[in-house]
Amino acid sequence: MMQVLHVVGARPNFMKAAPVMRALHSREQVQQSLVHTGQHYDANMSDVFFSQLDIPAPDVNLDVGSGSHARQTAEIMSRIEPVLLERKPDIVLVYGDVNSTVAAALVCSKLLIPVAHVEAGLRSFDRTMPEEINRMVTDRLADLLFTPSEDGDRHLQSDGVEAKRIYRVGNVMIDSLIRLLPSADACPKNDLWDQYALVTLHRPSNVDDGVILRRILESLLEVSTHLDVVFPVHPRTRQRLAALGMNFARLHLLEPMPYIEFLALQRRAKVVITDSGGIQEETTYLGVPCLTVRENTERPITVEMGTNVLVGQNMDKLRLELAGVLDGKAKLGAIPPLWDGHAGDRIAEILCRGPISFQ
Ligand code: UD1
Repeated sequence: MMQVLHVVGARPNFMKAAPVMRALHSREQVQQSLVHTGQHYDANMSDVFFSQLDIPAPDVNLDVGSGSHARQTAEIMSRIEPVLLERKPDIVLVYGDVNSTVAAALVCSKLLIPVAHVEAGLRSFDRTMPEEINRMVTDRLADLLFTPSEDGDRHLQSDGVEAKRIYRVGNVMIDSLIRLLPSADACPKNDLWDQYALVTLHRPSNVDDGVILRRILESLLEVSTHLDVVFPVHPRTRQRLAALGMNFARLHLLEPMPYIEFLALQRRAKVVITDSGGIQEETTYLGVPCLTVRENTERPITVEMGTNVLVGQNMDKLRLELAGVLDGKAKLGAIPPLWDGHAGDRIAEILCRGPISFQ
């Protein structure tokens, strides 16, 4: 029996772990367990994703909650260590680039437990982004690296990772999207919004500085004179918006949405305005125009092949690109290779091939 332990903690981990767990479930030689660090703990940031994505209840919840980066990372490390010592997994799978990912990878490395990083090799080359640090460190420590696209392989090789540890498996998050798209399409259409821009913002670089956030919100208020603006608000952003003391009555501010309902909102949007990583990929798959409020992206394939355009914090560029979309001149895109719904199966196949050498 191979004991596989998965670690998840924050919202974007859940749709990535689900297809891998599902693919391993049918393998007789595998026993799985799941640790939730509790980095995200609100029902609408966590529980609802477990039920919609059909993820089994975690075997262990570390309940770490929020805190500064150092505090949260340290808390996860000290609480996961005894769990790993007790369970002695043969391999630990970590996902994406959140604090839970790097914290678990660090502890595993010190305990000499092999780690596999799912969604390895992504780089924004912007070290002001906490996720970039998490990606670099996790990739450096991981024994097996599963990449979503060719740029991931290249970054790892130029960081000195041996080719034999790198497997290009495709995009696990798109596995979840493909599986649940029929459920999203079955969601009742909200007649209130005929043509709308769907907005999400939560990156510290956009929401933590009141001056920048105000400028973005003023632009969104201007957008709302052309089409409805639907904005499910991340808890981090909600606190910051309240502090601005502006009148947002013209925007449709919503609570964070469940996975399926949010997928339906993306699918039907005229345009998506976001600073999320995952949403850049989902819109590329769906062929929906995406204007990304970031100067760079760790997912360049969404710009090169997909519907994504980086507008940065340049609100004139946002205005211009939006006018293009409304004029019927949106950027067209294609679906990148291996974004085919089978990335989880490929990971399961590789893990079950037999003893993997970690020397
Ligand atoms: C984290 C990830 C980010 C990911 C995002 C998706 C890191 C460094 N960041 O950012 O990469 O894109 O998740 O959502 O790991 N809060 C709640 N309820 C919750 C969770 C958080 O109210 O369930 C609030 C707390 O005030 C907390 C703040 O949101 O302080 C930020 O949460 P945190 O986990 O630190 O980072 P995110 O901004 O969510």
